[in-house]
Amino acid sequence: MIIIKSPLEMRRWADQKRATNNTIGLVPTMGALHRGHMSLVEAAVRENDMAVASIFVNPTQFAPHEDFDHYPRTFEKDCELLKEAGVACVYAPTAGEMYSQDFSTWVDVELVSEGLCGGSRPHFFRGVATVVMKLFHATKPQRAYFGQKDAQQCAVIRRMVRDMDMGIDIVEMPIVREADGLAMSSRNAYLTDDDRERALCLSRALFAVGERLRQGEREAAVMLESVREAMREVEIDYVVLADADTMQPVSRVEGRVVLAVAALLPTARLIDNIIYDPTENTVS
Ligand code: PAJ
Repeated sequence: MIIIKSPLEMRRWADQKRATNNTIGLVPTMGALHRGHMSLVEAAVRENDMAVASIFVNPTQFAPHEDFDHYPRTFEKDCELLKEAGVACVYAPTAGEMYSQDFSTWVDVELVSEGLCGGSRPHFFRGVATVVMKLFHATKPQRAYFGQKDAQQCAVIRRMVRDMDMGIDIVEMPIVREADGLAMSSRNAYLTDDDRERALCLSRALFAVGERLRQGEREAAVMLESVREAMREVEIDYVVLADADTMQPVSRVEGRVVLAVAALLPTARLIDNIIYDPTENTVS
């Protein structure tokens, strides 16, 4: 497994692999890898000749008051896991090489990025879309893997790829959870025992409404109220039922919808969601 740190060297490696007819699958990450990330990595290894994982804690998607400085960094261990999984290349650029002093070009994906996490973290999706565009240009993948855990991020990246004719397949992988239902996240490491326990109300609230959806419930107001009630022990950031592609809130379920929640616990901000597909009557 090769570790590449500069964008130029990354592009050269990718050009050489593509020239010799290899397909490239990219998994963008910020490191501190857990089983959720690894499910994406395993799919990329399976479905492409060359799997590339990027590790970059992207400063432009953190606001000044957020946890950029404290974000867990476990580079050596991450590389061991990636090597064992069969990854061909780790792309780990430095912030200096990604963002020159006078960096001034941004990718703004309108509308899809505006509610939910975009509402409480206004800087966030501009930073994400910009860095993902840069990672795509450096690694030149045919496919890129993202987790449903960040459902709005998936929708934003899909829209960017479509609007900008980037011709990259975006593969969305299911949420990997702990045995008790908590969605895996690098930020779970921040949780105290108390907060870890209270965090369970997110997935419990979602699963209960998932069941009601499968039994035919269609009214957003009823479901949102029941989620809020089940999450009364934590500070709610948002509870939204939205169209799964556009991320626009809906009052009734008509197509594929995402029920998404975010909570501000004293030690971490957590997000979780379920997606309901009425044509199949499935919750994922
Ligand atoms: P990060 O939070 O490290 O997540 C990297 C990828 O892993 C994302 O696509 C995320 O949705 C996925 N992921 C995280 N937890 C998961 C879980 N429990 N189950 C399944 N997939 C999971 O998301 C980012 O990094 C950044 O915003 C990035 C896209 C790398 C841009 O900086």
